[in-house]
Formats: sequence, C-alpha cells, structure tokens
Amino acid sequence: MAGVELYHGDFRKVGDKIEDGSVSLCYSDPEYAFDKLHLYESLAELCLKKLKPGGHLMVLSSTANLLNTMNACAKYLQYWSLCVLTNENGAGFGTDPNTRVEMRHKPVLWFRRSGGGDLDRFVANRVETSSPDKSLHPWQQGAVDAEYYIETLTRPGDLVLDPMMGTGTYPIAALELGRKVIGIEIDFATFETAKARLDTRLVELLI
Ligand SMILES: C[S@@+](CC[C@H](N)C(=O)[O-])C[C@H]1O[C@@H](n2cnc3c(N)ncnc32)[C@H](O)[C@@H]1O
Repeated sequence: MAGVELYHGDFRKVGDKIEDGSVSLCYSDPEYAFDKLHLYESLAELCLKKLKPGGHLMVLSSTANLLNTMNACAKYLQYWSLCVLTNENGAGFGTDPNTRVEMRHKPVLWFRRSGGGDLDRFVANRVETSSPDKSLHPWQQGAVDAEYYIETLTRPGDLVLDPMMGTGTYPIAALELGRKVIGIEIDFATFETAKARLDTRLVELLI
C-alpha cells in the first residue's frame, strides 16, 4: 500500500525496521494494566530513536496508572503536556475497581523528542470524543482525538506511527489526512483486522 507500512509482530523488534529520526508523530494506545507498564518505557525508548527532533509522542494512559506511565515516558522524552479526552454524551471510559473511580476522562500523555524548537500554533489539551465503535474489538477506540492531533501536529506527507495499532483506528485516521503511516500489531488476528480495514479504506480513497 502506498505510504502505508503494516507489520505483524512485537514493536520492540519490528520497530528496528523504521528509519531513525523519520517519524513526526507517534500516536498510540497501549494496554494500561499495571503489569504492562514496560510497554510505555519501550515505546518511549523507540520514540527517542525514531522521532524527528521535536517529534511528538501522544500516548493514551489511565488515571490509575498515570504517574507510572508518565515516569516511564520521561526516562527518554521531554514532557510537554497532559491532555484529556472527554465524552459529554454520557459514555464514560469505564470504571476502575481498585480505586472505585468512575472515569469521565481519559488521559493522553504528550511528550516530545528534544531539539525541535517551538510549535507554530496553540494546541488544545482537551478533545471531546464520540462513543467508540467496539464492533471489531473490545479495545477499539474512536478516531476524533487522533484526527485532531495528527492534523494539528503534522503536515501532509509526514510519517505517523502507531506501534500497537489494534484494529488500525489511528493509522486509518492518518491515511485519511494524507500522512504516511507505519502500524505494528503483535496479535495476528487483530493485525489481519487492521490490514483489511486499511486495505478497504485505501481503495475507497482511491476511487
Ligand atoms: C488497547 S489496544 C489498541 C486499540 C486500537 N487503538 C484500536 O482502536 O483498535 C492495544 C494493542 O496493542 C497490542 N500490543 C500489545 N503489546 C504489543 C507489542 N509488544 N507490540 C505490538 N503490539 C502490541 C495488543 O495486541 C492490542 O491490540
């Protein structure tokens, strides 16, 4: 697919195929559980190599694991802002049985590789989302937030990376906005779902 590279595998290995310093924005949604914290550290380590100077990592997190996920990313990248996704339509972001918090927002951590200078615009740190379609996977997310940040932080032709792409929601958003895309997914069935979605969308965009 032109401008689209999809890989089945573990991003900690497959990520080596990405050219160093080539990615403008990594937008990703890892698993949030406490025992998956290592994914945030590996993601930030990958971004330190693969982002352009000044390139952006925007990564979804959870309120329960916010402090740990921020510290993991801060080992490699420069903290920029905490963003939140909200949904006023009533569909929340689930409940955390440990803290008994009913989540009415989802944090998105914004980090940058240092060396890129100032941004040329103001960027909102809250995005109102829609209720995600979960028809393909229970973890499937909506695209509104990704579309906003891809459009705001990158230009057409820039490379956007999602190394834990699930069903491919964010790579599709990037493709629709005329960006180049790299998507990686470790689970084969989910990878096949993402690939089929991207194939279909690409054909639709070419017609
Ligand atoms: C929360 S889901 C992403 C959902 C996605 N945003 C969507 O809308 O479908 C996280 C995904 O990361 C994948 N994943 C977990 N560890 C991975 C790894 N080491 N390398 C690549 N993918 C991984 C999981 O299989 C899962 O599909």
